[in-house]
Amino acid sequence: MQTNNTIEESVPVLEISDMTQRFGGLTAIADFSVSLGSNSMAGLIGPNGAGKTTAFNLVSGFYQPTEGEILICGKPTAGLKPHKVTALGVARTFQNIRLWNQMTVLDNIRVAQHGKLEYGFFQAVLRTGEYFQCEERIEKEARELLEIFELDKYVDEFPTNLPYGLQRKLEIVRALSEKPKLLLLDEPAAGLNSADIQELIRLIRWIHETFDVTIWLIEHHMDVMMELCDDIKVIDFGQTIAEGNAEHVRNHPAVISAYLGDDNI
Ligand SMILES: Nc1ncnc2c1ncn2[C@@H]1O[C@H](COP(=O)(O)OP(=O)(O)O)[C@@H](O)[C@H]1O
Ligand SMILES: [Mg+2]
Repeated sequence: MQTNNTIEESVPVLEISDMTQRFGGLTAIADFSVSLGSNSMAGLIGPNGAGKTTAFNLVSGFYQPTEGEILICGKPTAGLKPHKVTALGVARTFQNIRLWNQMTVLDNIRVAQHGKLEYGFFQAVLRTGEYFQCEERIEKEARELLEIFELDKYVDEFPTNLPYGLQRKLEIVRALSEKPKLLLLDEPAAGLNSADIQELIRLIRWIHETFDVTIWLIEHHMDVMMELCDDIKVIDFGQTIAEGNAEHVRNHPAVISAYLGDDNI
């Protein structure tokens, strides 16, 4: 039993080997490799257009890599559509918030869990007991989650009525509601003021300590990255130019050069 657990724990949650993505003549990301263990938190930084979001789009199945392999908990994602990658345990947020603005806050969380439904088409159409039990459980869990994250007073609001910082938070909560093993956060601090950024840092740290989830974070705000991640990769024009802890990366000549003129470094 113990041996099995040990083997399971040693399989990385995310393993990318020599991943390359070309769009016509443009190589958005080249020969990229990373291995993230369970419950780890790692960062990906680089100037605009470096290829960061492309990496997330590849991991979440929006694109299939031109070359290389992606494994989620040991399972290859090759040929899988995004919803199948979600089923392997990958959830994400987007650089530009993507919430369902025509639905209430509660429904945003409820709908996100429909990939994991335990009733089939016929139960839904016939409105069987299983259908109602499952829907009831989903609603209960969604309400509990919103309460934990202190968003419960907004359950009946539409997302656009929430302050911007809470919309960002709601998107993270929605991703978490899918019970991911790997949570991808694409620039969660984008557009936040400095007070909201401090709040976000506390939120991400708390999620990491509380939930059994590996977090891979893209962030343009260096201070967020430095506070949260010990293991940071830096890419520029799709190439990995540095890797290490915050101190190492901050002082790396290639990083300084890539960011030269950027106020964030
Ligand atoms: N679907 C696409 N088609 C063509 N080029 C793309 C596509 N997606 C991204 N790119 C290009 O790939 C490069 C990396 O983009 P992106 O991954 O969004 O960078 P980052 O997130 O680091 O700012 C950019 O030059 C961008 O224009
Ligand atoms: Mg991006």
